[in-house]
Amino acid sequence: MTFVGRVSRARLEGGAFVRLEYPPFDVLVSLVEGVPVAIEDACNHAGASLAEGERHGNCVSCPMHGYLFDLASGRLVQPRGLCDDQRRFVAALDGPDVTVWDPGAGVQIIGV
Ligand code: FES
Repeated sequence: MTFVGRVSRARLEGGAFVRLEYPPFDVLVSLVEGVPVAIEDACNHAGASLAEGERHGNCVSCPMHGYLFDLASGRLVQPRGLCDDQRRFVAALDGPDVTVWDPGAGVQIIGV
């Protein structure tokens, strides 16, 4: 796996989003029910930054067209079938921080 970056867990409290630079698509980091999660930041529909979207429970709505993605799985929730799911990254607690890792293209993360 490739190291993507590190975020203070405190920055994620209250449902906040943090975007880690990881060109070309960057990574959106957040907490879902206290568990760190990370998905590709650039919306695969037309490239908007999901970190600038609004949180709706455990989902994020894209700031450009409002598509809704599940923050933990990256799955497109609605509208169905109009673009793909967001790519998922590995996020883990490491002391007071969250570390994010790229498992590599084509590697599926099991769970959630
Ligand atoms: S760019 Fe995200 S829904 Fe269109």
